[in-house]
Amino acid sequence: MKILIIGATGAIGKIVTPALAQKHEVITAGRNSGDIQVDISSADSIKAMFNLVKNIDACVCVAGDSHTGDLATLTEENLNLGIKNKLIGQANLVLIGQNYLNDNGSFTLTSGKMGDKPIKNAAGKAIVNGGINSFMMAASLEMPRGLRINVVSPSKISDIPVNDLIDGYLKSIENGTNGEIIKINY
Ligand SMILES: NC(=O)c1ccc[n+]([C@@H]2O[C@H](COP(=O)([O-])OP(=O)(O)OC[C@H]3O[C@@H](n4cnc5c(N)ncnc54)[C@H](OP(=O)(O)O)[C@@H]3O)[C@@H](O)[C@H]2O)c1
Repeated sequence: MKILIIGATGAIGKIVTPALAQKHEVITAGRNSGDIQVDISSADSIKAMFNLVKNIDACVCVAGDSHTGDLATLTEENLNLGIKNKLIGQANLVLIGQNYLNDNGSFTLTSGKMGDKPIKNAAGKAIVNGGINSFMMAASLEMPRGLRINVVSPSKISDIPVNDLIDGYLKSIENGTNGEIIKINY
């Protein structure tokens, strides 16, 4: 498969990318890193990326910022950071990318445990992760041309056995799974 991975140099990307590269052709993307440059918070940038990379079978996103902080000081601006970047950024990857991926290809987005098992100081992450999970479940019902979509939702990766994290992404990419929130180490 030809796999596009956005955020390959990050904490999760550094673990998942070499594992994918053992079996697949991998193209990496990031704002300042990777084979090609993209900022997922910009729809124009996403379009430019998909116009550059052709014949993608799987688009994997392990990128996107969101805010950590207590409820008392949380602001709309704080929320918008994650909404614009991690939530709408990943949704736009799907909305735009659905017109570019090969038939029967897949999207794998990343949310996180704070979406459904939050701890304190996580409202800024919860709103984003919950949105990603809900968007994915609804979008999975209407994907064209046999395309699939899943979300990997990890807990803190320092607490996760490396192979569990890799297996989560492989399940989405290789196993025909569709519409699933793949929870890692809850
Ligand atoms: N780390 C964890 O414990 C954990 C747990 C659960 C969920 N998550 C989620 O998993 C995702 C990745 O986490 P991480 O810890 O691996 O992040 P990270 O270490 O900060 O790495 C982020 C990666 O994404 C790229 N990136 C960031 N913003 C981007 C943008 N707007 N457009 C394109 N590329 C962008 C970065 O490269 P450039 O700087 O070159 O753009 C980098 O390669 C995040 O959404 C995070 O919330 C992380």
